[in-house]
Amino acid sequence: MYKDHNCGELNAKNIGQKVVLAGWVHRQRDHGGVTFIDLRDRSGIIQVVANPSHPEVAEILHDARMEWVLQITGEVRHRPAGAENPNLPTGEIEVDATACEVLNQAKPLPFLINKDEDTDENVRLKYRYLDLRRERMQRNLMLRHKVIKFMRDYLDAHGFIEVETPMLFKTTPEGARDYLVPSRVHPGCFYALPQSPQQLKQLLQVAGVERYFQIARCFRDEDLRGDRQPEFTQLDIEMSFVERDDVLAIVEELFTAMLPVVTPQKHLLASPWPRLTYTDAVNRFGSDKPDLRFGMELIDVSDLFAKSSFMVFQNTLKANGVIKCIIVPGCAEYTRKEVDELTSFAKDQGAKGLATLALTSEGVKGTAQKFITPEEVSALEARSGAKEGDLILFVADTRVIANKTLGQLRLLFRDRLNLVDKDVMAFAWVLDFPMFEWNEEDQKWDAAHHPFTQPKMEDLPKFDTDPAAILSDAYDMVCNGYEMASGSIRIHRRDIQLKIFQLLGLKDEDIQAKFGHILEAFEYGAPPHGGIAPGIDRLVMLLADEPNIREVIAFPKNQAARDLMANAPSEATEKQLKELHIRVEMPEE
Ligand code: AMO
Ligand code: AMP
Repeated sequence: MYKDHNCGELNAKNIGQKVVLAGWVHRQRDHGGVTFIDLRDRSGIIQVVANPSHPEVAEILHDARMEWVLQITGEVRHRPAGAENPNLPTGEIEVDATACEVLNQAKPLPFLINKDEDTDENVRLKYRYLDLRRERMQRNLMLRHKVIKFMRDYLDAHGFIEVETPMLFKTTPEGARDYLVPSRVHPGCFYALPQSPQQLKQLLQVAGVERYFQIARCFRDEDLRGDRQPEFTQLDIEMSFVERDDVLAIVEELFTAMLPVVTPQKHLLASPWPRLTYTDAVNRFGSDKPDLRFGMELIDVSDLFAKSSFMVFQNTLKANGVIKCIIVPGCAEYTRKEVDELTSFAKDQGAKGLATLALTSEGVKGTAQKFITPEEVSALEARSGAKEGDLILFVADTRVIANKTLGQLRLLFRDRLNLVDKDVMAFAWVLDFPMFEWNEEDQKWDAAHHPFTQPKMEDLPKFDTDPAAILSDAYDMVCNGYEMASGSIRIHRRDIQLKIFQLLGLKDEDIQAKFGHILEAFEYGAPPHGGIAPGIDRLVMLLADEPNIREVIAFPKNQAARDLMANAPSEATEKQLKELHIRVEMPEE
């Protein structure tokens, strides 16, 4: 080893010992002709001073530059009185260097490692190996490691075994495009990288594994956002002979036990976790991934305006729409400009407009004031608890648009008014999702979760009459406004699985080509089974208080799905393309 101690682990107990250290020059400064270096390795930082009786060492320390790699031999000693640094774990001591070897030099840096500066993310990603040296990123890597280790240990202790499943496989529909890999030996044929191990983990249940998990990499070619990457990691779980609540219990227990171990500063909002139906979540919070850390629930006031003279309200109710509102505390004095901004935000969400009522100390104001009677205002106050100083925001529209718009406004005010504690983890379950969603664009039904999800048995008769009303045994785990996990009890009978594929508009030959293997497997004694898959990147992002998942992935892609460090994707050579039987046609400019 190049070292016998770690920099950050030295303490007063080591005083008087001779140590050999190796690390990077984190900081360097000269005081009255003496050079001080902060030497850093993964464990932390220690101050190194050149011993005047070793001028050759003093010279190296003096000439060293940031991020040079040094090996230091020296003696640990107490810092002179007054020179201690209480902000540093090793601030009481320093190493008096008697020998120093330069293991490697470093060019001038594109950004500072020793300061948490606002560096352009593209530069950070290009030099990711430097970016990862920063304390914050080291902390994130460590946290992620601890989270995954906890998961593995916990599941192992509960009878789960980890099984690896292939990356080169066949399409697994999770609602995104596939990444395809051309086959050299089978011209014109492609593997699909798994969007998730969904089919394989179900087949492992048919195979008798009973309790499976995998820290699984998933690949999805979809539009990227802060909480999405083209490749990401799931804690993939599948169990046999279970019902919904068995799956929820194991995950809830795992996460509840993990929190105090990996992030003691975080705490649960409630235990046991709250449970909401999908319908409740959407109606009360305007989202199927509600942030439960604060109130400001959506209130349906359609009935209060049954006789309204406000044309917008009247027409909406006539068209079977709803009038809903949220109460924004303390914002009654919003200016015209501020209200206009909210209105255009609402329009961006699809609403036709935003009506406001401000309960000011000088009476009721706002865009809806002249259309709303004093009786209606009183009824509103009684229903909603709105009081002087509050601003009421109304959206009159279809239920879907009213919910979505007010749900987004609710989140806007969460951030604007600082309504949440970042250390609260508001885990909750959202249950009873619809089985199907109508796809306007393609004029067909899509699976709301995925096509392997079990419909509620009592809803089976609605198959031919009212697919929209069929609920499924799917569930989501949500936290602080994010979908953290999805799962479901699965179909394990061939006839039902076939019916679902047919309802999704798949032709018989497609069903056979894409899913013949799983349909056949169900004919050989498939056990009842179900599972779930928490997204590890999103979880660690929340635990680390990071704004996006790129911060908790060692080598992420940027928003344009590029790796800026290695410059991937990149062109293949003519020879490679030829071997793969592929000809590239560039899109027109
Ligand atoms: P689903 O598609 O809902 O379900 O994914 C489960 C969880 O994975 C995370 N996730 C992502 N994280 C980062 N980037 C992405 N592009 C991305 N897409 C999804 C989310 C999400 O909740 N096979 C099913 C699970 C099951 O039924 O057991 C599945 O993959 O946290
Ligand atoms: P108008 O009668 O169109 O001038 O609208 C009067 C007020 O109602 C304006 O503040 C609009 O933004 C608002 N408004 C219009 N349509 C809606 C709607 N669907 N829901 C809520 N408010 C609306």
